[in-house]
Amino acid sequence: GQILGIEGTAWNLSAAIFGDDLVSLFSKPYSPPHGGIHPREAAQHHASVMKEVISAAIEGQDLSKISGIAFSQGPGLGPCLRTVGTAARSLALALDVPLIGVNHCVAHVEIGRWQCGCDDPIVLYASGANTQVLGFLKSRYRIFGETLDIGIGNAIDKFARSRDLPHPGGPLVEKLALEGEPVELPYTVKGMDLAFSGLMSAAKDCNAPLEDICAGFQETAFAMCVEVTERALAHAGKDEVLLVGGVGANSRLQEMLRCMCEERGAEFFVPERKFIGDNGAMIALTGKIMLEAGQTVTIPESAVNPGYRSDDVVVKWRKDTGD
Ligand code: ATP
Ligand code: FE2
Repeated sequence: GQILGIEGTAWNLSAAIFGDDLVSLFSKPYSPPHGGIHPREAAQHHASVMKEVISAAIEGQDLSKISGIAFSQGPGLGPCLRTVGTAARSLALALDVPLIGVNHCVAHVEIGRWQCGCDDPIVLYASGANTQVLGFLKSRYRIFGETLDIGIGNAIDKFARSRDLPHPGGPLVEKLALEGEPVELPYTVKGMDLAFSGLMSAAKDCNAPLEDICAGFQETAFAMCVEVTERALAHAGKDEVLLVGGVGANSRLQEMLRCMCEERGAEFFVPERKFIGDNGAMIALTGKIMLEAGQTVTIPESAVNPGYRSDDVVVKWRKDTGD
């Protein structure tokens, strides 16, 4: 059968159908008129385009082939999650098919594995709100290291906003960095964890030319991520690295990770742009795999979870590794 998946944890309302392959994918991103993303305004955006997004995803499709509705249950912004959850429950009831609550972080990993054809990678998940290094061990996606304060993307976006660059700042900072010589900025790795707010504050206060600060910000933040990824790779004894999350679109981050992998004899993977950031395809695909493994939720179990962690999910669809 086919699964209809809905993603809407933050800025992008996106729906997709996954059968044996991706059947359809349609997205309506929310761009804040000024400043960052306001949770209730983003949720209102999602509600107002829900019908359009779902209609576009199911257009021309045979609804009788849909055997489940998957939705992003968390982590994410509460109001956004609730809007998506309500739509998903209604659809599941209307079509009389099971409901699958998908962990957004796990979905980033699964679409990456599917698209890149890698098997058992160490994953650097670098997005707006999240920065984590994950790996599969004992039936769960374990978090080997993560940010102790803000996500790398939010750190870049907030710095960019302080310089009056439009949201999201990531792509603009990448462009400016190409013209700059990196300045030195605070580097914070504590054990396997990272922190970005000190780096962000120092970058905001720095008087060097903007291009040089952007270059320094990238070199510092990315080197931190690469260091933790490399240590996780060595520690877990794996030989693949997968980069996912919106910040993964950055060419310099990809280059630094690829270089580390070459030195270690590991293989480096990064999905296509449309599968890197938040998208409905990752929810539909993960929903399909989970339904096949029998991992559905009842309506009462379908409450959203803004703090949902990847290691809360028992991964029944993968063969257990480790002891
Ligand atoms: P999550 O809920 O997983 O945290 P998210 O809502 O942050 O996801 P994503 O699409 O995964 O959404 O990531 C968005 C982030 O990616 C933004 O912070 C944006 O600035 C950043 N980004 C996008 N392109 C680039 C780029 N080329 N370089 C650096 N950062 C980028
Ligand atoms: Fe995401």
